[in-house]
Amino acid sequence: MTKAIQAVRGMNDLLPEGIAYWQHVEAAARDILHRYGYREIRLPIVEHTELFARSIGSHTDIVEKEMYTFEDRNGDSLTLRPEGTASAVRAGIENGLLHNQVQRWWYAGPMFRHERPQKGRYRQFHQIGVEAYGMSGPDVDAELILLTARLFKRLGLTGLRLELNTLGTPSARAAYRARLVDYLRGHLDVLDDDSRRRLDTNPLRVLDSKNPDMQELLRGAPGLLDHLDESSRAHFEELRALLDAAGIEYHINPRLVRGLDYYTRTVFEWLTDRLGSQAAICAGGRYDGLVELLGGKATPAIGFAIGLERLVELVVQASVPVDGNAPQVYVVAVGAPMAAVLQLAESLRDRGVRAEYHCGGGSLKSQLKRADRSGARYVLMVETPTQAAVKDLRGNEGQQTLAYADVGGFLAARLGSAPAAADILTRVEN
Ligand code: HAM
Repeated sequence: MTKAIQAVRGMNDLLPEGIAYWQHVEAAARDILHRYGYREIRLPIVEHTELFARSIGSHTDIVEKEMYTFEDRNGDSLTLRPEGTASAVRAGIENGLLHNQVQRWWYAGPMFRHERPQKGRYRQFHQIGVEAYGMSGPDVDAELILLTARLFKRLGLTGLRLELNTLGTPSARAAYRARLVDYLRGHLDVLDDDSRRRLDTNPLRVLDSKNPDMQELLRGAPGLLDHLDESSRAHFEELRALLDAAGIEYHINPRLVRGLDYYTRTVFEWLTDRLGSQAAICAGGRYDGLVELLGGKATPAIGFAIGLERLVELVVQASVPVDGNAPQVYVVAVGAPMAAVLQLAESLRDRGVRAEYHCGGGSLKSQLKRADRSGARYVLMVETPTQAAVKDLRGNEGQQTLAYADVGGFLAARLGSAPAAADILTRVEN
């Protein structure tokens, strides 16, 4: 037998059984984003490698170790996007949409990082990302946090923790970075390999170390918040006041530095205890310098991205009821003319009913078994050229025999579906 080909490690099939949860989460997110005035933007999955190296930073884990980079047939270096922010900025500059303008965008789709796969961490994963341009005040920072809080609430999720920090302006951060490096150099013997490596390239990331020995050492390190510039401090305080006024709880985490270089000022993450080590559900912050860095005019910017695999897993764990897209009516037929049965099924769909027709015939018994397995509420049994019987598969309504012409109205009324499309058309014409 020929060996079957398997999916690439860390890249998952999202099967029909689980997809209802994805659709539920995506629909909730879309609805909420539109309420806040965010519009969808669709961006390419492949970009020039240089875009990510310049924006995320050439000494970050993502760029150093995790990108799927290849040469195309022209010899250009291309990369499967590891995130969406760089593409959004590139698209905004290229299409002249950022300078002196306000934009509120969202996108959703797959991202690619060659990380070690484990639960909640994959090599192809999905994000819903949000990016806002042209607004420099803390009100839009608060807006984004309110939006995420609303989404989590809508999805019935509890126990999420919001962590907040500010990284200040690039110059304040550079001054702090020098102080931190001095401190860490004074304790070189204690530094682990990772931290030593980061000392020269990305010392702020040492603050993020999960190693308990490092955490002990960091307790004595100079604090980022003590080295803030005045305007960043004021921005952060205003944001905190806005969140307090809105009743949003948060924890200040001075060690929250993020793994991408483009952040300035506000950074935040929503965390959960329910997914083991992959705790971050949503992460983002301000990146006021990135548009200029990528060749545009200086434009304030802020955004975040939600990891959909993680969010969906939380929704599954919370046993949130979702519409599974099961048919509402399963149509079986024995002995009735096929053309008439197909038309009867069509008349149900005209009324907005989800009606699945049993193709291929078979005995009534086997068809009923399939009806049951389909998850449908009702089975419609068509056994004569004029009449059909409706049976409630999930409740104890008795079986009813109806003329073909009455079937649609009967089921639509019970299922709360829309009037027949044909009726609407007639009304419009009148
Ligand atoms: P990020 O923190 O790299 O930020 O990713 C955002 C979220 O994507 C994470 O919190 C996590 O939920 C999810 N995620 C990341 N990597 C994986 C993975 N390998 N498997 C599963 N889920 C993952 C960004 O990507 C920024 N672009 C966010 C942003 C937008 N900042 C400003 N605008």
